[in-house]
Amino acid sequence: MRRTLLVTVIAALSACGQNETPPSAASTPTATATARSPEQLQAAFAALPAPYSEANYEAGRRVFAQCRSCHTINAGGQNRVGPNLHGVFGREIGAAEGFNYSPAVQSANFVWDASQLDHWLANPQTFLPGNRMAFAGVRDETQRRDLIAYLMIESAPE
Ligand code: HEC
Repeated sequence: MRRTLLVTVIAALSACGQNETPPSAASTPTATATARSPEQLQAAFAALPAPYSEANYEAGRRVFAQCRSCHTINAGGQNRVGPNLHGVFGREIGAAEGFNYSPAVQSANFVWDASQLDHWLANPQTFLPGNRMAFAGVRDETQRRDLIAYLMIESAPE
């Protein structure tokens, strides 16, 4: 038994670095774009505009857990209760293909950038009254910074 465990550990260790290590199924069941190494992620974060270059990836991923039940973020991800968020930066509001937006969103007219998202995520209802995103908002500024940086990396078209 002990020997089997040891063999498994060695096999797991030696697999590291040879293949892209898949994200741990337990912590990120729906993540697809996280097969980057910590070094690659760190470099990607450092290249973001301030203050997002200071953000914490893990913290952002944890905040995004609040969004996952309603939103996918990967390329070609399905619309759930909310639209797929892939490529959301630089996209017109209400433009995810095949998603049935509220009249409030349909009549809004702007392109998503970090500043718009920061306001939307702080309080969706005051930002755009009448929208259908049933979410209270992320009140903590640092959590929003980490979340937006996470979105910048994970929603970016490859
Ligand atoms: C309870 C489900 C739910 C949760 C939780 C939720 N959303 Fe949404 N989200 C929606 C819905 C529904 C819409 C569309 C709103 C409308 O049409 O009025 C939306 C719209 C959006 C949009 C606009 C997309 C576009 O195509 O213009 C963004 C950006 C967004 N959500 C980000 C987030 C983020 C980030 C989180 C987590 C902090 C989150 N949402 C949490 C349901 C949700």
